[in-house]
Amino acid sequence: MKSFVVGRVGELAEGERRVISCDGTEVGVFNVDGELVAWYNQCAHRGGPVCQGRIYHRVREPVDENGETRTLQYDLKRKNIVCPWHGWEFDLRTGHHPGGERFALRRARLEIADGHVYVVV
Ligand code: FES
Repeated sequence: MKSFVVGRVGELAEGERRVISCDGTEVGVFNVDGELVAWYNQCAHRGGPVCQGRIYHRVREPVDENGETRTLQYDLKRKNIVCPWHGWEFDLRTGHHPGGERFALRRARLEIADGHVYVVV
C-alpha cells in the first residue's frame, strides 16, 4: 500500500473536491458537509470518470395522500454526483446508486497524519 497526499487538513473547503492520481489510479476526495469522503474515479456503470461529474442535491418526487405527484423537490440533506458519461447518479456520502446498493462507487481509504490528508491505495 502507498499513501498519496491530498492536502493539508482543512484545506478542502465544504463542497469542494480534488481528484488526484495515485500512480495512475485516480481517486476523488470530496468535502461533503464537512465530512471527507473518497471514491475511486470509476463509475459503477461502465467505468466513466464519475468523480468529475456535476454535484446536485438529490431530486425527489413526493407522493401525496391521493397517490399523485405534483412537483419535484430537492432533498437538501442529500447530494448526488452525476457521471458525465451516461448520467448515472450516486449518493456522494454513501456511493450508492438511487436504485439500490447493488451499484455503488468503490470507496477509497483516507488517512490523516502530520496535519495532512492522504489517500491510501
Ligand atoms: S460510465 Fe458512468 S454512467 Fe455510464
